[in-house]
Amino acid sequence: MKSRYDTRVLPGNDVEAVSLAGRLLREGELVAIPTETVYGLAANALNPVAVARIFQVKGRPQDNPLIVHISELSMWRPLVRTLPETALRLAAAFWPGPLTIILPRDPGVPDVTTAKLDTVAVRMPYHPAARAVIRAAGVPLAAPSANLSGLPSPTTAAHCLNDLAGRIPLILDGGECSVGIESTVVTLAGEHPLLLRPGVLTTAMLSEALGEPVAVAAAVEQPLAAGEKPFSPGMKYRHYAPKARVILLEGSLASFLQELDKASIDTVGLVFAGEETQTAHPCIPYGAAHDAESQARGLFAALRLLDERGAKLAYARCPDRNDETLGVYNRMLRAAAFEVRQI
Ligand code: TXA
Ligand code: MG
Repeated sequence: MKSRYDTRVLPGNDVEAVSLAGRLLREGELVAIPTETVYGLAANALNPVAVARIFQVKGRPQDNPLIVHISELSMWRPLVRTLPETALRLAAAFWPGPLTIILPRDPGVPDVTTAKLDTVAVRMPYHPAARAVIRAAGVPLAAPSANLSGLPSPTTAAHCLNDLAGRIPLILDGGECSVGIESTVVTLAGEHPLLLRPGVLTTAMLSEALGEPVAVAAAVEQPLAAGEKPFSPGMKYRHYAPKARVILLEGSLASFLQELDKASIDTVGLVFAGEETQTAHPCIPYGAAHDAESQARGLFAALRLLDERGAKLAYARCPDRNDETLGVYNRMLRAAAFEVRQI
């Protein structure tokens, strides 16, 4: 493996590009691939040397485990000890799609992939290029989001190139991610199912498929107390964060505009589509009001734009707070490092 690459960006729907990706992955190299949620930085999940490179390239803390991606159900086998009925129900309802399921792991999964936990996170993505690459590689792929650690997850090939140019041999371009925030993570390794990370699938949808209620881990909406051990190691990091300080203003549009007008003129508004015409401040829209799907699709690109423009401070409009918007609300909370003001 080289330390410096001439990174190529090739179309994800090109058969030769996909087979090149498969070959590189089998050889232990890393490839950035599109998924419907965000782009992933993939390596052979069963090759500890390749997986260790993911941590090195991203600058990711070693104790933050990775999600393993499969293209068919039969690929569970080297990963988990047993497949409970509950997992089959979730798989039937939501796979392929933006759901990650955590189960007790097979001892054969390398420690580096699961950060030495006794569980493993598995997901079958929907994006055709992701599935084609997994098939071409012929092995399950460990893939965290393809950003440098601490930056917002990439939702375009250009975001990946921005973060990873020179560090990996290949990025497959599958267009803009249709979901835009990372998968919903649910653990079935405990006594009851527990939502560790919200995404676009709601707890109501998961509960219905499982036939039992799904609780939400406290860390989804609250910062961890000092020294508290999270269920999901990823929750302790200031994820999804732009360099700018983001403050989430929870209240009406009218009071938001008033607050923004009181702030220094270079304070950026992270607003809903159309609202930028109502203020003299620079604004970046991140989706339509009361439309969680469009907000999820636009959020990470908006956070990256904030940094590209060199913004120091941003006031953000607050997504609604309900089961359907929990994913985008959680990402915004983290981007704001939990700095929320009621206005
Ligand atoms: O949509 C997604 O899930 C994307 C795409 C590429 O599939 N991937 C992604 O990976 O978001 P990453 O590494 O950025 O986030 C994985 C999250 C982290 O919060 C991690 O702590 C958690 O899943 N996780 C992974 N394995 C776990 C385990 N065994 N137990 C608890 N949490 C786990
Ligand atoms: Mg990530």
